[in-house]
Amino acid sequence: MPIKVMTVFGTRPDAVKMAPVVLELKKHPDKARAIVAVTGQHREMLQQVLDAFSITPDYNLDIMQQKQTLAEITSRALTGLEEIIKKEQPDIVLAQGDTTTTFTASLAAFYNKVAVGHIEAGLRTDNKYDPFPEEMNRRLTGVIADLHFPPTEAAKENLLAEGVDPSAIHVTGNTVLDALLSSAAKPYSFSDPNLAKIAELSGRMILVTAHRRENWGEPMQRICNAIKRIVSAFPDAFVVFAVHKNPIVRDVVFPALSATPGVHLIEPPDYLPFVHLLKKAYLVLTDSGGIQEEAPALGKPVLVMRKTTERPEGVEAGTAKLVGTDEDEIFSSTSELLTNNVLYNRMAKAINPYGDGRAAQRICQIIFKYFGAA
Ligand code: UD1
Repeated sequence: MPIKVMTVFGTRPDAVKMAPVVLELKKHPDKARAIVAVTGQHREMLQQVLDAFSITPDYNLDIMQQKQTLAEITSRALTGLEEIIKKEQPDIVLAQGDTTTTFTASLAAFYNKVAVGHIEAGLRTDNKYDPFPEEMNRRLTGVIADLHFPPTEAAKENLLAEGVDPSAIHVTGNTVLDALLSSAAKPYSFSDPNLAKIAELSGRMILVTAHRRENWGEPMQRICNAIKRIVSAFPDAFVVFAVHKNPIVRDVVFPALSATPGVHLIEPPDYLPFVHLLKKAYLVLTDSGGIQEEAPALGKPVLVMRKTTERPEGVEAGTAKLVGTDEDEIFSSTSELLTNNVLYNRMAKAINPYGDGRAAQRICQIIFKYFGAA
């Protein structure tokens, strides 16, 4: 009898990172039956990733509401996922990363005495409020999990330091590289005419994303101010800002930047166009976790607009630098990269500290073995 593996995700980045696992599970119908449950924590941003990887969820809780609070996401996802778990009786629930969907999936599984596998386990900043609520989401998931799949040795060390049973920890690499390396290798032409035009612009493209709760309000305003100064000081550079769907983000970014020459505000692109935009970028300014993992693999310097990072590998390898959200700091670090070629070339080297593109294969093999199905 194949084992029943229920994968749960709900936000756009978690969908990208879980997709390779779902596709890999489907290659082994003799060993596993994959049940895909999505919470729909992100509505539009999730759907396009499902389309990109041709995944049709078996369940979609569709919990998203405008300006949803953490307690609302948590309670709606928890009760919805419990119902699915009760009905499907999976052998294991797989959750990915550190979102509220991740935590509720593991909690719902625990309440129903179902095993939990945590993909992208062991990332830590050791500051419970930064990033908020992600640091606590991944810690809580880590306490519940039976199988831990840290992407790197450093993440494994974090789990060992917290007393996790070493035999339950398997370093697999990050599945984000499985998705990225296969997508980036394929030829692509932009179907969105606006993106096609932007991709053809001459000059150096600075790709920007920002959405984190810690960066709402004042910090987001400072980020926008820094961007204005950058495009005014460097006429040969232009900014492409993919503005998150969150109205709290949009209410600051649009008024601040929509009339600034040299700044292109775009909707968050679908996954494939985003990967190909990243390939064309000269450098990246972001507070995203996933982009910190993707950019080094494509040799793009990343300035991380956060105080802390749970992804030190890119910083240690020299492709990423933490710049926080101080306007002067963002401006001066970006200016340095735009003027100092030696520094730029040192940061712009393609390395894969987060994985080799075969993480999903490893994860599935370990799960099969755990249930004696290998
Ligand atoms: C969530 C995760 C964060 C992850 C990020 C990736 C939590 C608490 N946060 O943050 O860890 O880094 O996803 O993007 O789990 N919205 C839409 N359409 C969409 C998606 C979002 O309108 O397709 C709007 C809604 O108004 C929603 C808001 O964005 O209320 C915020 O979404 P939410 O899931 O609460 O948090 P994110 O900031 O996206």
